Amino acid sequence: MTYFILKFLHVIGAAVLLGTGAGIAFFMLMAHLGGKPAVIAGVARTVVLADFLFTATAVATQPITGILLAYEVGYSLRDGWIAWSIVLYLVTGAFWLPVVWMQMRMRTLAEAAAQQDAPLPPAYHRLFWLWFAFGFPAFAAVVAIFWLMVARPQNLPFFS
Ligand code: HEM
Repeated sequence: MTYFILKFLHVIGAAVLLGTGAGIAFFMLMAHLGGKPAVIAGVARTVVLADFLFTATAVATQPITGILLAYEVGYSLRDGWIAWSIVLYLVTGAFWLPVVWMQMRMRTLAEAAAQQDAPLPPAYHRLFWLWFAFGFPAFAAVVAIFWLMVARPQNLPFFS
């Protein structure tokens, strides 16, 4: 029973991480392509809130349910697929944390532009492209974790 509850929560967490991440990226991109500061500001406000409510919750709970699952099933955290997943998880976090800050900054810059009826400043465009670039390694790492979790390749080497 504990196993199924943990696994249920873990898989829901995985869906929230990938789903919210992909959704946020899509809506931000669409708002940016529209080019209207007021729309970008509104979307960025919602995106920042969604990241705090959903992504942050899943980010915090995923390793907890994952480690408890490993304990429950009897896997070692040094098993290659788990150890690499933890490394990739840290990689995702290292790209996601600055992205949250960038979204807040883009929101503030777009709000200011909308209030002054001015075009988006160069700082906004620089941030947008950095935000765009950071999304790729973060997304690739999450997809790789999904693969490792589902395939659970045995004898995957890890430095230990
Ligand atoms: C960060 C540390 C993590 C640890 C220690 C961990 C651990 C585990 C363990 C032990 C299982 C297997 C449970 C079983 O044998 O039934 C599992 C399954 C799973 N994990 Fe993780 N996990 C972690 C992170 C993640 C992340 C970040 C994702 C995706 C975003 C993820 C997605 C999944 C999925 C989809 C399954 C189900 C796979 C299946 O049953 O085929 N995990 N995880």
